[in-house]
Amino acid sequence: MGVLEGTKVRLRGLEPSDLRRVFEWYSDPEVASPFDRFYTDSFEGLVQSVREAPADPTSLAPRFVVEPLDTSGAVGVVGHFVSHPVLESVELWYLIGEPKARGRGYGREAVRLLVDHVFRTSAVERVGITCDVENVPSCRLAEGLAFRREGTLRSSLYHHGRWHDTHLYGITREEWARRAPSA
Ligand SMILES: CC(C)(COP(=O)(O)OP(=O)(O)OC[C@H]1O[C@@H](n2cnc3c(N)ncnc32)[C@H](O)[C@@H]1OP(=O)(O)O)[C@@H](O)C(=O)NCCC(=O)NCCS
Repeated sequence: MGVLEGTKVRLRGLEPSDLRRVFEWYSDPEVASPFDRFYTDSFEGLVQSVREAPADPTSLAPRFVVEPLDTSGAVGVVGHFVSHPVLESVELWYLIGEPKARGRGYGREAVRLLVDHVFRTSAVERVGITCDVENVPSCRLAEGLAFRREGTLRSSLYHHGRWHDTHLYGITREEWARRAPSA
């Protein structure tokens, strides 16, 4: 898997040395899941899911780590998956696991590189993001990349003891190609 490079971060495939840190992020509810249900049952399960992901378009396993250009070492992970058995659309997810690395534009650039990658390597016409309506950073990230809010699914995500509404965001291949250069 190639390296995708932006101006702040690169996306590269996971290496065995990344996995312990990724597992720590997944295992810390404060880091990984204030608005979601990122988790994995065991370290071995994470290793197995990463190994099997390339052959499984529906896999939720991380597909790239996010690494700042000016340091070595991963600060986050991103993934993409086919979420519906019939509809032809790819969903994205993202996690900046190092709290100190948040708010620096790494998440947005990582997702920009990921959308480029998905449109370049697949035939899908739409890429989507689904996030808790209360997850302000995630919603702003999607909107900043010119994703359109297509609707809201009521009571569609259960975490922290209650049901949450989620926003559906999407962008088409054509919209992505003609978005403003700053997005
Ligand atoms: C969502 C997440 C990936 C954003 O990553 P990030 O690198 O901090 O985000 P960026 O610096 O690229 O900023 C993206 C947007 O979020 C906003 N933002 C970042 N942190 C914020 C915060 N704590 N509160 C409000 N807005 C915030 C930024 O201002 C920016 O929006 P703007 O351009 O309109 O100002 C990160 O917060 C995270 O990993 N969260 C936990 C996992 C998660 O919720 N993933 C998404 C599941 S759908």
